[in-house]
Amino acid sequence: MQFLPHAGNRLHRANSLVESNDGLLSWISSLPIRPSETTDLHVRAFYPVLQYNQTQQDFYGGNFWDLRATGYKLQNPAAEQALDPPVDPNEMGMPDTACVVHRLSQSQYRSLFETVWGVQAFVIKWPSNVAEVCSRPGPPSAADPFPVHLTREDRGRADSTYDQFGLSIALYEASPEVSPFTSKFDYALAHTDQQVLSPDELAGWNLFRGKAICNTCHLDGTASSAKQTNPSLLRPAEAASVAPLFTDFTSANLGLPKNPAVPYYDENKPDKYGYAPNPRGLSFIDKGVGDFLRSPGNPNSDWKQYADSFDGKFQTSTLRNVDKRPRPDFVKAYMHNGYLKSLKEVVHFYNTRDVLAKCKGADDPGQKISCWPAPEVAVNVNPTVGRLGLTDKEEDQIVAFLTTLTDSYVPPAAK
Ligand code: HEC
Repeated sequence: MQFLPHAGNRLHRANSLVESNDGLLSWISSLPIRPSETTDLHVRAFYPVLQYNQTQQDFYGGNFWDLRATGYKLQNPAAEQALDPPVDPNEMGMPDTACVVHRLSQSQYRSLFETVWGVQAFVIKWPSNVAEVCSRPGPPSAADPFPVHLTREDRGRADSTYDQFGLSIALYEASPEVSPFTSKFDYALAHTDQQVLSPDELAGWNLFRGKAICNTCHLDGTASSAKQTNPSLLRPAEAASVAPLFTDFTSANLGLPKNPAVPYYDENKPDKYGYAPNPRGLSFIDKGVGDFLRSPGNPNSDWKQYADSFDGKFQTSTLRNVDKRPRPDFVKAYMHNGYLKSLKEVVHFYNTRDVLAKCKGADDPGQKISCWPAPEVAVNVNPTVGRLGLTDKEEDQIVAFLTTLTDSYVPPAAK
């Protein structure tokens, strides 16, 4: 099994394996409408297979903001997530999954892959035009949905190999290289006899699990502070988990406005291959989980009936590594559409969504400070947030706490 994360690691970095059409999008985790090139892979590998809980009347698990990588087939949502970008016409745009398998068969990882998954993996009779077919970006035409023409047996083998490619990547994502659980917060949980968190960070955590009710969705492994007697100390004995994932695996509509800056809105004209990513242009509404439940990609017809009540909902993000950035001045894009650009903006939104006025037009100078635009999807908006009554200083303390969730913390003694 040692080979598995290793193989996944190599595949994960194999940018030459699947060439991005525009070279801009991260090929493992992004969607053009959802600029998640800044989201972290941490924790994703630990999401459960999507299920509907009758009692809670809620969906738990799955991957992608709209849950569409359900994990139904492979029993692994992260693996199914990894299989999407290579053939998504808005991302890598390969016209056929068999193209990815073909390129794998020609790559330096081939023997490693065979060691893990078996020598049958690439025993496939490729048509002589495979390279040419694969060089034309997808989507394939409706008349020829699998443009690499294979025998039924070879197609079955290519499909299995493709699935195993996804499983390798998921295993890598779960490995300590991607998900190490080495944040300052983890260190604090493991060293309760030490004053690890600064006073502001600790105050922020207490707000996070108290007045600001963040941990009702972003589970931090502790009970609500209503039950806590001495908020000045860490109380890991109360923790349900010593490695909390900061998500409850459900989804919610936070009432976020549209982000017109997302390039997807301009991609309404066919490219030279006749493909238009978003024919609806600016009138496109992203309904998130609701749209997935209505789509042919929904593997369970019983779920369709819930679509309307999940319009506008997106999966609760993990908050691990939410402040991680390649360099200090790097501007991240938060939430499914990247509308919020800093953690301060995020906390201010939760705090004041329902308190501040609605902005007057897109150019209102008060936007994000003294006014908020209307939600993109006005139904199913979560009523528990939006009016938290936090002071400016308390907002800053929550931000300070969020910065303690970045991996690779080096304790002072070890410096
Ligand atoms: C009702 C459940 C709920 C509560 C309460 C909640 N969140 Fe969230 N959070 C979500 C959901 C759902 C998303 C993703 C929403 C989207 O993108 O549309 C999210 C996203 C985020 C993100 C963006 C992560 C990313 O990678 O883009 C941050 C940061 C965040 N929440 C912090 C907080 C903080 C701080 C609080 C408390 C003030 C809080 N949340 C309270 C459900 C919740």
